[in-house]
Amino acid sequence: MVSRTEENLEKIKAGLVKLGCNPELVSYIAADITTNEGTDHLVSSLPQDKNIYWVQSIGMGGGSYKVPNDNIYLPFEHISPELIEAEMKIVTATHMLMLKMVPIFRKQIHGGYKSKIVVVTSMSGERGYHFGATHVAAKHAIVGYVKGIEKELRDEGIEIYDVRPGGVDTGMYDNPHTKKAVEEIGQRDKMWGTFEPYYAHPLWVAEAIYDDLFGGNPQKIRKILGPHQN
Ligand SMILES: NC(=O)c1ccc[n+]([C@@H]2O[C@H](COP(=O)([O-])OP(=O)(O)OC[C@H]3O[C@@H](n4cnc5c(N)ncnc54)[C@H](OP(=O)(O)O)[C@@H]3O)[C@@H](O)[C@H]2O)c1
Repeated sequence: MVSRTEENLEKIKAGLVKLGCNPELVSYIAADITTNEGTDHLVSSLPQDKNIYWVQSIGMGGGSYKVPNDNIYLPFEHISPELIEAEMKIVTATHMLMLKMVPIFRKQIHGGYKSKIVVVTSMSGERGYHFGATHVAAKHAIVGYVKGIEKELRDEGIEIYDVRPGGVDTGMYDNPHTKKAVEEIGQRDKMWGTFEPYYAHPLWVAEAIYDDLFGGNPQKIRKILGPHQN
């Protein structure tokens, strides 16, 4: 596992162990993957004796800015150009890490092992909705990056998968401002038909990633939608 904060990673590890995971099979590296130093630190800390697969799931500009009330769903006139620029950082960060991971993947393939990448993008990367200018633009960009690079990677035997969640109950919809904005999106765009917003369980995303990496039926694109969501 990778995130910027050692303390958070330790907490997540403790939670996984509590759920029954073997602590010896869960390890982490604290690194900011939007920076050159962070990606260097990450890549140089990866275990040499393991076959590496990469799951990329940072969002929201890689934590580089804070939006008021933690609500990214804003009418376009409330969106600053800086916010758009910060959100686009996920593409730059993904590319920066890609440049450093591909040599590792090539070595693995040369040694007879597989090399796989899953990028967690979003359903916001394939359709728009009210208050979505920041998020929809950034997620279309990361979906476009995966589409744009996949053929070159596959030429070398490196597999890349795009997992696109819709609304997932990871806590980001708990704050009242985001909740209100999403309810309004639901009503205006009929995103859940005539139903209230209903979020997918985070495990559904985890299962999709697991299936792509280890299952018998990997899919280039997976859409993870809660009941009634379109
Ligand atoms: N939740 C949803 O409904 C939903 C729907 C569609 C798509 N998605 C996408 O799915 C992905 C994960 O979403 P989530 O809800 O699980 O988000 P999250 O809870 O905010 O998780 C993001 C993780 O990335 C880490 N991170 C952030 N910036 C980083 C950086 N610069 N370097 C290294 N690690 C960093 C964070 O840890 P630290 O803060 O400790 O660094 C955190 O563990 C995002 O791309 C999101 O846009 C989510």
